[in-house]
Amino acid sequence: MSEDQSQSRAGREEVWIEKYRPQTLSEVAGHEDIIERLQSYVDRNDLSHMLFSGPAGTGKTTSAMAIARELYGEDWQDNFLELNASDQRGIDVIRDRVKSFARTSFGGYEYRVIFLDEADALTSEAQSALRRTMEQFSNNVRFILSCNYSSQIIDPIQSRCAVFRFSPLGDAAIEEQIHRIAEAEGIEVTDDGVEALVYVAGGDMRKAINGLQAASVTGKVVDEDAVFEITSTARPEEITAMVEQALDGDFTAARSELDRLLTDQGIAGGDVLDQIHRSVWEFDIGDEAAVRILDRVGEADYRITEGANERIQLEALLASLALEE
Ligand SMILES: Nc1ncnc2c1ncn2[C@@H]1O[C@H](COP(=O)(O)OP(=O)(O)OP(=O)(O)O)[C@@H](O)[C@H]1O
Ligand SMILES: [Mg+2]
Repeated sequence: MSEDQSQSRAGREEVWIEKYRPQTLSEVAGHEDIIERLQSYVDRNDLSHMLFSGPAGTGKTTSAMAIARELYGEDWQDNFLELNASDQRGIDVIRDRVKSFARTSFGGYEYRVIFLDEADALTSEAQSALRRTMEQFSNNVRFILSCNYSSQIIDPIQSRCAVFRFSPLGDAAIEEQIHRIAEAEGIEVTDDGVEALVYVAGGDMRKAINGLQAASVTGKVVDEDAVFEITSTARPEEITAMVEQALDGDFTAARSELDRLLTDQGIAGGDVLDQIHRSVWEFDIGDEAAVRILDRVGEADYRITEGANERIQLEALLASLALEE
């Protein structure tokens, strides 16, 4: 955590994602294989450079911080530098910070740890420079690079790192953490509330915990209504109904359902598309139709990324489903 971050956090009510961030590797939920491998590096006190790749909110930063805590105990913050590749103005700034950090260690440790978040934001030229920096300082520094897509990281870096692929967290890992936090905070969550949080999270623990905290603010029991409302998420059955209406050829009904989600419930078009994507295998349709829907979803997703109007893309998607036999 950078200094500005910890200062701005002070005095605010603590956010649960920080309050319940695992402090040790063994507290990290899921990822059993990864944690076992990381633990053995720590136990041998012999870190290699590492690359953590995977989607948001799955424990990459958390694991890096836990490693530092285990290696340095109370001195961890003095021997752990977190940089964000997309914050820093270019590779030169990163190199300067690495250089001054690598010069010494606090407390006589052999090496310090640098965590470079969003490494995939660096251009390949910048990554080549980073690779040279990693080599230059490899006696005094171990790098942990983090990215969402390892395919965006150049081979010479990948081959110098032990690569760890963090997958979306499973339902059980998320459920367990929700129960743990709810118990610690003394709030009541119904079974359908837990199920809704797991759905909303889609493998992202940060989303699950933020959803839980937001839904608990009213002081009432956290149930599925509270979760879907506070997170502006359509219920899976609303998505299913809309797509099935389109598949039945009733475009008008499908379109007005879409309008209700976008206008009345204020759900973002990109999120509706994402939910259609996630629900495809739950629709009451054959594989062939599912494949066709996925094809359309991919097309709409690409166009939205390129700046197309979300509502038009979603309507066009429903229209194309309604036109099919
Ligand atoms: N595996 C996990 N076990 C327990 N809590 C987790 C786990 N993963 C994430 N969390 C919770 O979610 C929060 C965010 O996780 P973290 O910062 O590790 O995500 P990340 O993988 O680095 O995501 P990003 O790609 O967005 O940086 C943590 O503070 C923690 O509360
Ligand atoms: Mg992170």
